[in-house]
Amino acid sequence: MTREIVAIFPGSFDPLTLGHTDIVRRALATFDKVVVAVLSNPDKNTLFSVNERIELIKAEFKDCAGRVDAKSFSGLLVEFADQVKATVILRGLRAISDYDYEAQMALMNRNLSSKVETFFLMSSENCSYISSSLARQIAKFGGDVSKLVPNSVEGALKAKFRS
Ligand code: PNS
Repeated sequence: MTREIVAIFPGSFDPLTLGHTDIVRRALATFDKVVVAVLSNPDKNTLFSVNERIELIKAEFKDCAGRVDAKSFSGLLVEFADQVKATVILRGLRAISDYDYEAQMALMNRNLSSKVETFFLMSSENCSYISSSLARQIAKFGGDVSKLVPNSVEGALKAKFRS
């Protein structure tokens, strides 16, 4: 019997961007299942609620035949990994400026648990400038976010800033 390899892809996803979808879809060539792990942090002010973020992610990956799921987590990521039987933490690297933060998190997570390994995927070049915070900012001022976020997220951003 072959073992299913589950990867968790953790983050704030406020909101999901085309940079995130690029990483998840490419990861499916290597891992059997990707669980998008949405951080629930009541201390952090977010534009979208955890439920809204999860619904947007689930809708985006409807075509993935059950291989992509979205769940919220709080507390330690390695504990959540254990709960969903993930052996991989997946993160995207856009540029060298991401490296310090990502290396610190990967080493900290390794320190906390030897049951999970961090894998990095280099962002596609057309996604390397995309971030959730820039997408929020551009949407707030009425700019075009169609090259930054999936269609459904574009609509949700417009709705947030309407009125
Ligand atoms: O999208 P982000 O904000 O860069 O994601 C950061 C995230 C959610 C991956 C990170 O804050 C996290 O894993 N938080 C959970 C708390 C934890 O496990 N901390 C110890 C490892 S650094």
